[in-house]
Amino acid sequence: MSLINSLVVLFCATVVSCRFQVPLRATDDLDLKVPGNNPLSFEHDPKDYTLQLHQLDLEPNPPAPGKPLRIQATGHLAKVVDKGSFVHVAVKWGIVTILTKDFDLCESAGAVDEECPFHEGFWNVSKTVDLPQQIPPGTYKVEMQAYTNETMDEKIICMQGDVSFTF
Ligand SMILES: *[C@@H]1O[C@H](CO)[C@@H](O)[C@H](O)[C@H]1NC(C)=O
Ligand SMILES: *[C@@H]1O[C@H](CO)[C@@H](O)[C@H](O)[C@H]1NC(C)=O
Repeated sequence: MSLINSLVVLFCATVVSCRFQVPLRATDDLDLKVPGNNPLSFEHDPKDYTLQLHQLDLEPNPPAPGKPLRIQATGHLAKVVDKGSFVHVAVKWGIVTILTKDFDLCESAGAVDEECPFHEGFWNVSKTVDLPQQIPPGTYKVEMQAYTNETMDEKIICMQGDVSFTF
């Protein structure tokens, strides 16, 4: 599985970010760190998201090239997420954009052994992906912004973070 697919799975494993908006900065009142053992932060006050992500654990964290990456996530979807939902993924390596693409969430559901529509309520998802050996070392800036439909009125969840790969 390619790195890009792994990243998409990683994102979809949390069921799924928030273009055209200035990302928030954490303040004393607002802790934007995604709970759990992961390098990600929310891009807004997470209470505005359809998906309340309670915990996201990566094992190992940071991920290691050539090693399986186990992703475990729990959360609560405030409503059914159906066709039309998508995630915008952008990955930068240094200043070089290596990916910017929208993925249809329903079409990606199979990658995490789920089906569309995504049911309302509690989610506990666990997935192991094999990371390729040949990942150029460095820090990758990852942004994932998921919306219920193309109007982008409703954010499912928006996260960003730096994932570092070393030898
Ligand atoms: C989620 O599932 C795992 C097993 O797959 C279990 O160990 C864990 O306790 C569950 N978490 C919650 C919050 O139910
Ligand atoms: C898109 O989602 C918003 C927020 O849920 C909803 O109000 C709107 O009706 C939806 N539009 C379409 C075309 O589905």
